Amino acid sequence: MGKVNDKWICGTAFHTPQRGVLEVLDEVLIAVDETGSISQIVRNNEPRFGEIKAAADREGRLTELADSQFLLPGLVDLHIHAPQWPQLGKALDVPLEVWLQKYTFPLEAKYADIDFAREVYGDLVDALLANGTTTAVYFATIHMEASLALAEICQQKGQRAFVGKVAMDDPDQCPEIYRDSDAATAVSEMRAFIQRVREFSGGANALVQPIITPRFIPSCTDALLQGLGELAAETGCLVQTHCSESDWERDFVEARFGKTDTEVLRGFGLLRQSTVLAHSNFVSDEDLSLIGKAGAAIAHCPLSNVYFARAVFPLRAALDRNVHVGLGSDVSGGHSPSILDGCRHALSAARAREGGVDPSLAAAERGVANSAIGVADAFWLATAGGGEALGLPIGKFEPGYKFDAILIDLDAPGSNLRHWPTLDGLDDVFQKIVLNANRANVMRTWVNGKLVYAAQV
Ligand code: GUN
Ligand code: ZN
Repeated sequence: MGKVNDKWICGTAFHTPQRGVLEVLDEVLIAVDETGSISQIVRNNEPRFGEIKAAADREGRLTELADSQFLLPGLVDLHIHAPQWPQLGKALDVPLEVWLQKYTFPLEAKYADIDFAREVYGDLVDALLANGTTTAVYFATIHMEASLALAEICQQKGQRAFVGKVAMDDPDQCPEIYRDSDAATAVSEMRAFIQRVREFSGGANALVQPIITPRFIPSCTDALLQGLGELAAETGCLVQTHCSESDWERDFVEARFGKTDTEVLRGFGLLRQSTVLAHSNFVSDEDLSLIGKAGAAIAHCPLSNVYFARAVFPLRAALDRNVHVGLGSDVSGGHSPSILDGCRHALSAARAREGGVDPSLAAAERGVANSAIGVADAFWLATAGGGEALGLPIGKFEPGYKFDAILIDLDAPGSNLRHWPTLDGLDDVFQKIVLNANRANVMRTWVNGKLVYAAQV
């Protein structure tokens, strides 16, 4: 009946093991081993179900869910700026290139103060775990101490994370108060950051990992981009950056290099397996082919796209080319830290961009191309899609996958979903959760088999 130290959870779980495919695991037993991996899933029609459940219960190793409670894979945020948490919801009243200079660089410069950094980062990681984000890919700031503090806080609080000390050195684009002194120093500090995070977190497969983070092409000199590309090859560290987010950025890069962002990143050795490209709103079909060939991934940030960049990533075209895509909150270009909100914004953005096609009607029946996405597609982006983008076994309930999960309670205090018993079936419950659940419904969050958040009730 599994390994001696396995813990068991009995209840109903939802996941999307493939894009657009909802699987309801109705009243199953899930075993989690000492390493935090799912070791087996036992369906309730298997003869051994009753015996295993009774034994786990007898031995005090069983958690049983109530009727109003459902398990979901933990949510993956592929793109979030930790230092911008204090300006969440601050008016985005100017274009990106002005917003950076006017609000964002002055705010990020404040993280030279390590006490301020610790306070903000502790609060942010708590908030993300309470919203069900089990994996986050963070931009920090240029500061070594504060970036290390973010990595340590993720480790202490048990969140799976990639943490990037930001590199930006171009004096024409970055203010004196907030830039790396020169490319060589920025590269050697990035190397030191990688070593230090790997030392305290336990190496290349640890829960918390460093990620090489050139801010975006306009803020980096050629020497910095070149040096970071070489560092990625040397260390095997993942890379993240912004790509083709705004028309300003696209035009700037075109004027400087005569190429697209994607081509420039590739030329500097930064377009690699699992490189996370935030946004990619202005990518061409050729860019998407390059991204796909490299095995790189796109962090689709729909709220930020619509509200801030005023251009929407061509999600359908990327999915049709099998490019890795997941969701990013892009706090604070996006004004919600919730990846469930990200699902809703992805649905709205796809319908607006693709003409409002109703994905619930079979395209063939109606004789039209079904180009929008459905709820199960959006949830896949938020979970297994994000996991595939990062090359991690997360986002599904399958043996061998990590038990990164959230417990949603439809009857939780403050829930908007108490009328769920009137729904027609479990598919409707899933849709209701993806479209309507919020922080009040997240009762527990586990990462790598460990309980990292429990709501106070
Ligand atoms: N491009 C470069 N830096 C940023 C940032 O902080 N936010 C967003 N949305 N885009 C960027
Ligand atoms: Zn961003």
